[in-house]
Amino acid sequence: MIVIVTFLIVLLISGKVTTSGEKLLDAFPDQTMTCNERTVLQCNITASKQLTIVEIYWTKKAEPDFKCDPTSNNNPPGFECNFTGEALTLNILQSTPANIDTYYCCIMAASAHGSEKINVSLGECSGEFSQNMTGPGEMECSFNSVYPDGIINWFHYDENVTSNSSVTSLKNSDGTFNISSILNIQDNKPRYNCSLWSLKNGRYLKDQEFEVDAGGGFSPVSRTSTQHCLSGTLLFLAMMFSLRTCLSL
Ligand SMILES: *[C@@H]1O[C@H](CO)[C@@H](O)[C@H](O)[C@H]1NC(C)=O
Ligand SMILES: *[C@@H]1O[C@H](CO)[C@@H](O)[C@H](O)[C@H]1NC(C)=O
Ligand SMILES: *[C@@H]1O[C@H](CO)[C@@H](O)[C@H](O)[C@H]1NC(C)=O
Ligand SMILES: *[C@@H]1O[C@H](CO)[C@@H](O)[C@H](O)[C@H]1NC(C)=O
Ligand SMILES: *[C@@H]1O[C@H](CO)[C@@H](O)[C@H](O)[C@H]1NC(C)=O
Ligand SMILES: *[C@@H]1O[C@H](CO)[C@@H](O)[C@H](O)[C@H]1NC(C)=O
Ligand SMILES: *[C@@H]1O[C@H](CO)[C@@H](O)[C@H](O)[C@H]1NC(C)=O
Ligand SMILES: *[C@@H]1O[C@H](CO)[C@@H](O)[C@H](O)[C@H]1NC(C)=O
Repeated sequence: MIVIVTFLIVLLISGKVTTSGEKLLDAFPDQTMTCNERTVLQCNITASKQLTIVEIYWTKKAEPDFKCDPTSNNNPPGFECNFTGEALTLNILQSTPANIDTYYCCIMAASAHGSEKINVSLGECSGEFSQNMTGPGEMECSFNSVYPDGIINWFHYDENVTSNSSVTSLKNSDGTFNISSILNIQDNKPRYNCSLWSLKNGRYLKDQEFEVDAGGGFSPVSRTSTQHCLSGTLLFLAMMFSLRTCLSL
């Protein structure tokens, strides 16, 4: 199990204002999703006067056709949006790399309109481990649904035997990667570790130890271990300078 910390940072807030100069919406500009979990984006209504709302919806930068409207029952699959009078929310039901984007909450009222943007990023997906004996003297170790991309290094205790292996990484439609590596094993070396190395984060995410038995089969020695050290670089700073309108306005 991996613990991913979500940081919410308020830095600078901008937004479209009403004709009287009042800001309509307020949101935290950055949000980090936890892999495979629900993410809730929220824009609070800050207008002091009652608004006569014409339309409210969410959209996103990479997909200008994306629209989640709380009054519609024909919204994009995997998303739910809601409006309570005080806030506009967008639920991302299962967070994957495909959901990384800049999201906009938009409000159009009789006298004014406004929008706020939220830059949504994703923590790590440590993936699912599997193993296979692909041939005589060959063992394969795989991590499926990993994010961001990585490679696999092999160790026989202190000895790095990665040069006798070949790694493959395939991208899934949700943006995660299936990473697998085949090692040519040596008869006198029955035990190995296969370690998933995250290219972006520059550290090992998981280790799996194997023991090859005399019959050529093999078995995992210990359960997969996950390293919890989170780099401080999860703190992302973003600045928003200009007044912005909704993408589709
Ligand atoms: C929006 O309102 C909720 C509930 O009152 C609050 O927890 C949250 O901090 C508010 N968001 C912003 C950006 O102020
Ligand atoms: C939307 O908000 C209403 C009122 O607060 C609540 O009853 C409902 O459960 C919410 N729906 C979702 C999908 O969050
Ligand atoms: C294991 O490897 C063999 C030989 O390459 C292959 O036929 C089989 O589909 C693999 N099994 C799994 C579960 O990947
Ligand atoms: C595998 O890694 C674990 C922990 O890092 C270590 O204790 C063990 O000796 C390693 N085993 C092999 C065969 O490299
Ligand atoms: C790679 O395999 C060859 C042949 O089995 C062996 O001689 C060599 O020492 C291995 N290299 C490493 C780094 O384990
Ligand atoms: C192990 O070897 C691979 C390539 O053979 C290299 O990329 C990697 O950095 C090495 N890892 C360590 C911990 O020495
Ligand atoms: C990744 O692995 C999963 C589970 O084994 C599989 O269903 C999927 O097709 C694989 N993706 C690719 C791109 O091969
Ligand atoms: C959004 O956040 C990511 C990660 O924190 C960062 O790399 C990217 O530059 C940000 N994009 C914008 C438009 O602020």
